Amino acid sequence: MTHLFITGGAGFIGSNFVRFVLRERPDWRVTNYDALTYAGNLANLTDVEADPRYRFVRGDIRERDDLVAAMAGCDAVVHLAAESHVDRSIHDSGPFISTNVVGTQVLLDACRDVGIDRFVHVSTDEVYGSLPLDQPDLLFTESTPIAPNSPYAASKASSDLLALAYHETFGMNLCVTRCSNNFGPYQYPEKVIPLFVSNLIDGEPVPLYGDGLNVRDWLHVEDHCEAILAVLERGRAGEVYNIGGNNERSNLELTRSILSILDQSASMIRRVADRLGHDRRYAIDASKIADELGWTPTRSAWPQALVETVEWYRTHESWWRPLKDGTGAVHQSA
Ligand SMILES: NC(=O)c1ccc[n+]([C@@H]2O[C@H](COP(=O)([O-])OP(=O)(O)OC[C@H]3O[C@@H](n4cnc5c(N)ncnc54)[C@H](O)[C@@H]3O)[C@@H](O)[C@H]2O)c1
Repeated sequence: MTHLFITGGAGFIGSNFVRFVLRERPDWRVTNYDALTYAGNLANLTDVEADPRYRFVRGDIRERDDLVAAMAGCDAVVHLAAESHVDRSIHDSGPFISTNVVGTQVLLDACRDVGIDRFVHVSTDEVYGSLPLDQPDLLFTESTPIAPNSPYAASKASSDLLALAYHETFGMNLCVTRCSNNFGPYQYPEKVIPLFVSNLIDGEPVPLYGDGLNVRDWLHVEDHCEAILAVLERGRAGEVYNIGGNNERSNLELTRSILSILDQSASMIRRVADRLGHDRRYAIDASKIADELGWTPTRSAWPQALVETVEWYRTHESWWRPLKDGTGAVHQSA
């Protein structure tokens, strides 16, 4: 039996991953270690909180003693805890360096203290920087040089390199994953899909950055969870695995799709000044994980997966309303 230690399990991907593991691996136990920052929300996990295989520990990944105490008896770690919002990193990069870089270093050391057997560091395609729009065949592979452009991406790239260095230096049995933009239930309503859907439900316009032509690859969060589990169980130590949906959309195309699903007109689009340093295009070559681990996305097909996600936010207003009301200005991100 595996006892899995998940950091950041109260966030968007983390809560979906906790639920996914408890469902897919009935004989595993899960400890969810999360500091409950503004992005952490135990309401994401009410359906599993009474499961005897699940335990929540409130704690910060920058606190080595707390980590060591909470990890006692655990075999493997999936590391998701992070500051994750690019716009916030432009406003103030301090918490991003502190949690994403220093926090990852403290966590890696705590894993060595405890003797953790296996570690997956969950990262992002944003570490590769930006692709041009006029070369659609160009994709990020695992050997694309790291060239992050935002403070968020730079902090994630730093933590990726630290994790890989712990493999080389100490022989830690770990993998790094780099995934494209996720969508699905329980995403904090500062991110573009829940922000736009909730704005439209409230009769408010949707703020679209610049010319709207920036391209992102979109993957359903459960496809990401399945890929993380595949890497945890079968990934080769010291390797990086890209994870993508083969589902590139411009922000304008995404916005028009959301408007159409909610039966709203293009007059609800409000153009706003572009994000500083806004990457033009991300696109993933996910053939390595397909070839080595047999993983391909099955839940991300467009537009059906987007329709279902919009419907989830439409029918879960009681989940997002308090988050949106409580944060004041909620920034856009794609
Ligand atoms: N959302 C995406 O599209 C996406 C894509 C690729 C990779 N990722 C990566 O996946 C991970 C999860 O992303 P997300 O979108 O779920 O983020 P999120 O912001 O929704 O959740 C982050 C979680 O980490 C917790 N946390 C933050 N600082 C902490 C600390 N110091 N100690 C302990 N817990 C802390 C928060 O409370 C929250 O529950 C991140 O590492 C992110 O870089 C996200």
